[in-house]
Amino acid sequence: FVPPGAGGGTGGTPAKDALGNEIFAKEYLASKKPGDHSLAQGLKGDATYLIVKDDGTLETYGLNAVCTHLGCVVPWSAANNKFMCPCHGSQYAPTGAVVRGPAPLPLALAHLDVDESGKILFSTWSETDFRTEGKPWWI
Ligand code: FES
Repeated sequence: FVPPGAGGGTGGTPAKDALGNEIFAKEYLASKKPGDHSLAQGLKGDATYLIVKDDGTLETYGLNAVCTHLGCVVPWSAANNKFMCPCHGSQYAPTGAVVRGPAPLPLALAHLDVDESGKILFSTWSETDFRTEGKPWWI
């Protein structure tokens, strides 16, 4: 018995672009600059940020863009190095941690992996939330 998400490397839901096409890491990274935060379709079709780290590789988690206050999609502000919700002013750190309310909870996390074919996959983050050291609120 292997619990879901316990490895094997191939479990997960492909990240998709706005046209519904699966996203491949090599191609994707060739088109993005370090520090890029762009939206993809993630788990359950939720808008999820793909984050390009300063070294040009993908962050190993995706961040669900749905504000934990009342559900607006939260844009990334490169100028402020934060996610800033236009609806009621919540702000989130680059990790998705809340830095200003009224958002009560951090942006939901998803694991990000790249399979053997180079496809980007999201899977449920069910471990400790490293921003709060607590249980994931989205499970
Ligand atoms: Fe984002 Fe209210 S929905 S601050």
